[in-house]
Amino acid sequence: MMVGATAGSVALTGQTTVNLHQLLATLYDADDTDRPVILADALNFASDHHAIASHLRLRGRDPRRTLRQVESPDGHTLTTADIINAMTEDVQLVVLPSVLYVSGQLLDVAAITTAARARHIILGWDLSHSIGVVPHQLEEMGADFAFWCNYKYLNAGPGAIGGLFLHPRHHERAPGLAGWWGVEPAQRFKLDPTHVPATGAARLQVGTPSILSLAPLAGSLDLFEQAGGVAAIRQRSLDLNQRLLQRIDADLTPFGFRLITPRPPEARGGHLALHHPAAGQICPALRDVGVIPDYRHPRVLRIAPNAFHTSPGEVDVAVDRLVAVMHTGAYQNWPPVGTAAP
Ligand SMILES: Cc1ncc(COP(=O)(O)O)c(C=O)c1O
Repeated sequence: MMVGATAGSVALTGQTTVNLHQLLATLYDADDTDRPVILADALNFASDHHAIASHLRLRGRDPRRTLRQVESPDGHTLTTADIINAMTEDVQLVVLPSVLYVSGQLLDVAAITTAARARHIILGWDLSHSIGVVPHQLEEMGADFAFWCNYKYLNAGPGAIGGLFLHPRHHERAPGLAGWWGVEPAQRFKLDPTHVPATGAARLQVGTPSILSLAPLAGSLDLFEQAGGVAAIRQRSLDLNQRLLQRIDADLTPFGFRLITPRPPEARGGHLALHHPAAGQICPALRDVGVIPDYRHPRVLRIAPNAFHTSPGEVDVAVDRLVAVMHTGAYQNWPPVGTAAP
């Protein structure tokens, strides 16, 4: 329901970063010396870079030569053309975020997936910032793999179990990192040292999942169904963000806020990001008046009206309070970022 895949292509397991490690271990071919490069981007969450670089080292490759990054022309967004142009002949695998975690840009998942397929490049998506708020059709589109956390728009709670998608064309691959939870369920408790992999993505599971972290996810997925699925949530999220956008233009621009999220709805995820020189002070000031944004170093405020429980009226209240914080200068009561005690 969430990623547009058949059940056998999805596993709820591990954590985001661990799942990326597992997918690289399963899909990256270190013997392909003609195509040693993994392509990523300069704006993705650092953990993905850590995982890719360490994986390359583990497989005997020097990441300084084999981890290539698509650069951002403006420091906040990426262009589809730059990404596709970077898919050169030496690239074997690409890892990209569907939504950039700072600016909230939604990449053109369909066009990029098609381009990678046409070049026989393995493509994987980090869906952490889109799952649960942007509908996906990964299997039909032909993406090779995806991984994500369930603790943002899927509401399963901080540190909840992660997820991964493996396209059916890879279902026969041996898991790079094998463990007993990836054994065929009927065989698992035979505890035979020979690994008999489960069918589909389930074979990429490694150890026992945390039931206490799966339970809230089950509850949250029920709520998604009751709410009409992710397509309905996406529409509501776009409506809320459109209202927020109008209020930003009308009431916040005079205070020096600059929107760094692309304006077209099809290029936006679930949050809007505002650049402001005092963002690090504004964030706690806003929390102090009951509005919870998020701060990203060095100067970005992220606002994510959650489509499940935020009303259009609450978007107005949030902006009104932000205007008051700026108007009164209340944010100056907080130390500039970099000077605060830890
Ligand atoms: C885009 C993205 N990728 C990866 C991660 C790392 O997630 P985890 O701590 O579950 O490995 C995060 C965490 O917030 C993220 O936002």
